[in-house]
Amino acid sequence: MAKSKYIYTCNQCGYETSKWNGKCPSCGAWNSLEEELADKPAALSRSSYAAVDLSDQILELENIGAGSDVRYKTGLGELDRVLGGGLVKGSLVLLGGEPGIGKSTILLQICQFLGEDHSVLYISGEESARQIKLRADRLGVDTENLYILTATDAEAAAETISSSSPDIAIIDSIQTMSIGRITSSPGSITQVRECTNLFMHTAKSLEIPLIIVGHVNKDGAIAGPKVMEHIVDAVLYFEGERHQSYRLLRAVKNRFGSTNEIGVFEMADKGLREVENPSQMLLAGRPHNVSGTCVACVMEGSRPVLAEVQALAAKTSYAAPRRMATGFDFNRLSIIIAVLEKRLGIFMGSLDVYLNIVGGFRLDEPAADLPVAMALYSGIMDKQIDEQLVAFGEIGLGGEIRSVSHISHRIREAERMGFTKCLIPKQSASSIDIKDHQIEIIPVSTLKQAFTHI
Ligand code: TYD
Ligand code: MG
Repeated sequence: MAKSKYIYTCNQCGYETSKWNGKCPSCGAWNSLEEELADKPAALSRSSYAAVDLSDQILELENIGAGSDVRYKTGLGELDRVLGGGLVKGSLVLLGGEPGIGKSTILLQICQFLGEDHSVLYISGEESARQIKLRADRLGVDTENLYILTATDAEAAAETISSSSPDIAIIDSIQTMSIGRITSSPGSITQVRECTNLFMHTAKSLEIPLIIVGHVNKDGAIAGPKVMEHIVDAVLYFEGERHQSYRLLRAVKNRFGSTNEIGVFEMADKGLREVENPSQMLLAGRPHNVSGTCVACVMEGSRPVLAEVQALAAKTSYAAPRRMATGFDFNRLSIIIAVLEKRLGIFMGSLDVYLNIVGGFRLDEPAADLPVAMALYSGIMDKQIDEQLVAFGEIGLGGEIRSVSHISHRIREAERMGFTKCLIPKQSASSIDIKDHQIEIIPVSTLKQAFTHI
């Protein structure tokens, strides 16, 4: 049988197959396979190629000069932290996020600070120069070192970067860029991948930081960032609800720093503002005298953050009760419910359970287990939890409270935010000196014990 002229590539995970499928066999995404010309050279047999021996280029690790890791500060401390201390020279950074989340805004904003000492070339395929100027005026960006180019030809863009050699280059966005020689349309998987490779080469050969914007849709309708993740040095995702003003910046990959850190911003009328005190923002507007709420303390990278957990349990009118969790892992919630039923005899078979982390925040850390269980219990019993109480701890399947990391960091954050009581795992109590803290520290070893404080 003749070899097919086409291959199909998943725009979510990059899986390749010779047959079209409605569903990607690898990642399960629907309608994500895109047709590409299979014009890759056939694999050569081992004997037919004449390879060059590179053994004279092998280096000893000790003799490789690393130089100092040059980083450019962006002027936004939150962004610098997520990047691991600033933009690294020669790195390719992908800034992903849904359209309208604020990617162009944050990049234009950092141009002001970067422009003080460096020249920045901002290549936009989305907006006209006039539109960018209007936005810059609105954001108060008026640096002389910012140069704007509107282009959609990726090769021309790369060539211009090379010839004008700016200190930093920005491409907004990869979905609008295309290479003329490739027949598929801009934004398709082939274009995105090849353009990214091209810009990777530009960044490495000129040794400048290059930032690429990539749009993602909730349903993955636009090709992209997932395929680019393998290629680039760092991947930052901008998240947030459109109708809420704050935005979270997360690193999902970073060759030059940790991926635990998050940056918190608020979208205001003059662009994005850094939120240095996320706890305060997340706890603003807490309800008073209500059952079913408990304050949790989780670590987001090196920073402790307080967030409110709300739970509502209501009599079900369905055969199978509903369970819903927003900002918390659904399976984790099921486990906690099972532990409450089995170990404490609190039956929820006839109750719908809704759990929400206020402010669109996500609690992924096991330390959020205890406050979730406390909020659930408080809701079911309709007994209020002291508003001045913070709790954290992992729950074991036996109903025990297990230790978590960074105890004193968390306690200090609770103190700073004016809380007076703190429930902590008993196992962790030995690692701190209770006398060092103003706050009343209550070590608990089981869920049963914890619930006596409600
Ligand atoms: P934008 O940066 O254009 O999004 P992206 O590049 O990720 O697609 O952000 C546009 C949104 O931000 C738009 O909905 C309006 C809002 N915005 C403000 O609220 N204040 C501002 O000062 C600016 C510039 C934008
Ligand atoms: Mg934009």
